[in-house]
Amino acid sequence: MGLLTRLLKMTLVAVHMNFGHKHKSSSFKQQVIENFRNHVSSGKVAVFEKYGIDFVTGRRQGAYLWDIDGKKRLFNLHCNGGVFNLGHRNEELIGLLKDSLDELDIGNHHLISQSRAELARELAESMPSDLDYVVFGVGGGEAVDLAFKVARAYTGRSKIISARGGYHGHTGLALAAGDEKYRSPFGPSAPGFFQVAFGDLEMLSEIADADTAAIILETIPATLGVAIPSQNYLQSVRKICNDRDILLIMDEVQTGLGRTGKLWAFEHFDIVPDIVVLGKGLSGGIYPITATVLRRPLEAVFHDDPFIHVSTFGGAEIGCPVARRVLEISSAPEFLDHVNRLAGLFAGKIEGLRRKHPKFLVNLRQLGLMMGLELKDEICGPLLTKTAYDQDLLMIYANNDTRVCQFLPPLIMRLAEVDWVIERLDLALSAARRLRPVLGVKTRVEKIIHKFL
Ligand SMILES: Cc1ncc(COP(=O)(O)O)c(C=O)c1O
Repeated sequence: MGLLTRLLKMTLVAVHMNFGHKHKSSSFKQQVIENFRNHVSSGKVAVFEKYGIDFVTGRRQGAYLWDIDGKKRLFNLHCNGGVFNLGHRNEELIGLLKDSLDELDIGNHHLISQSRAELARELAESMPSDLDYVVFGVGGGEAVDLAFKVARAYTGRSKIISARGGYHGHTGLALAAGDEKYRSPFGPSAPGFFQVAFGDLEMLSEIADADTAAIILETIPATLGVAIPSQNYLQSVRKICNDRDILLIMDEVQTGLGRTGKLWAFEHFDIVPDIVVLGKGLSGGIYPITATVLRRPLEAVFHDDPFIHVSTFGGAEIGCPVARRVLEISSAPEFLDHVNRLAGLFAGKIEGLRRKHPKFLVNLRQLGLMMGLELKDEICGPLLTKTAYDQDLLMIYANNDTRVCQFLPPLIMRLAEVDWVIERLDLALSAARRLRPVLGVKTRVEKIIHKFL
């Protein structure tokens, strides 16, 4: 057999083996998929078909999601980046939302509101220093946009610096602070945004000039592959900001609310930001709400016109009791102890897997339960995502560094569940290791074919 024929044959095997068996879907489920294909996103359906993933979310509870046909159950190790920190359909939070509905509604965002005031006070009390004011939003991107607006208005400067490969959302200004690939199809981007490599202090120092309003960083950039910064890095960034009157915005949308074993991840690094952005987990997975927390002097930007920034649904009143309870649960010392005990267990057991699969699993990136499995190369993240799915684990690779699979279990998972997750992960790693050489050939063939077509 000639080399090219052999390569093509292996490619066909890789394509047609569909990476595992599939159940036959019910006609009801097929209809859901067709509706989604025809009216929500044909592209997403095509991607999932390519990977042999035909999961449609049905029942969900705690750490688990069931397929709508009820035939497959997934353990959620992604948690939508923290939305489901407290599990799916947390019963206590659902109860609070139901109580809210007996009395409240969205509320009027122009008027003074008890629900918003109480949640804002509690958020302020949970933060160090004079991080005292809270502007509520609906989505994380909106909260990031507002952080930039405040930074520009307060400093009178225009430049915003972010980390290359970082991620802050897909709204206007947040998009401009993100990577080129997410904005290039959508026309001109907002001006004034600059990116430097995460961890590169020299370049940061070079471009952080007298026109720089703010530097924004995720405390641990998740989309960049759960890159854990050094203590020195974040402290030096804080110093650059202090020395040059630049505001430091920490995006804690994923890392906040106990994910790292402390309430706020920036606490690990002994820094105090000027603005903190919160999202995802604050919702309890039940009612969307985000927050931009400002140091007291920054609130002055709204003194001339307090209505210059509004958000109709931001901090909707029925969601506030849910968010308050999320904050209370997440800051309780025994809750954070539980997160740290889980983190210790995972550290030991994943190190065991690393020793067993040293050529595939290279390293565990970890701060508390903010974890990333660093793998051999760029093909491995998507591959492990698929083999993990076949082992009933929902785990997603980092889009801006596909060598890494994000590993974000629910913070409420039981210690007793760790062994089961590790057993499944072991099987997923073994399967991925077996498939990796075939996939490498497939990718190379695709590149050759692409070159000649
Ligand atoms: C770190 C970070 N910041 C901001 C956002 C944007 O949040 P949203 O999707 O709610 O707009 C995300 C979303 O994934 C995120 O991970």
